[in-house]
Amino acid sequence: MTTWHKPRLAETLETCRPVPPDKPNILKALLAVQSALGHVPPSAIPQIAQVLGVTDAQVAGVLSYYSDLRTQPTGRHLIRVCMGESCTANHGVLVLRAIQDHVRVAVGDRTQVERFTVEQMSCAGNCAVSPTVMIDEDLCGRVTPSIIPSLLEPYR
Ligand code: FES
Repeated sequence: MTTWHKPRLAETLETCRPVPPDKPNILKALLAVQSALGHVPPSAIPQIAQVLGVTDAQVAGVLSYYSDLRTQPTGRHLIRVCMGESCTANHGVLVLRAIQDHVRVAVGDRTQVERFTVEQMSCAGNCAVSPTVMIDEDLCGRVTPSIIPSLLEPYR
């Protein structure tokens, strides 16, 4: 793990340390680490397990189970394309392809200049105006392939 992570990781984990009679909450701790670092470095698993009082395998199991948890850093902007039922029925796959063509990156990868990471997501709760794309915290509805260049332009 790179050194810049260490102080922030330790500080974050202190807020997740279980106080008896509370039980350790692995998912909550992993989400807190991801929020602080942008991802959960696999090298941090032993430290997380030690603070929570659980095994490395328990932490690794939760980390690998939830697709919202990332083990690699993302680009400066995270594009998440909804692949829920409504968005899929409204040509979400075409939107995903248009995004991948525009930024030239596969799902799960970062662009070479680390501007974007593209991911798929399950229902974003925006079905009434599907297909939906989230760029960082911005929720965009009724997205079509033709608007992708202008939609992504402000995200430098
Ligand atoms: S299925 Fe995409 S927002 Fe619900």
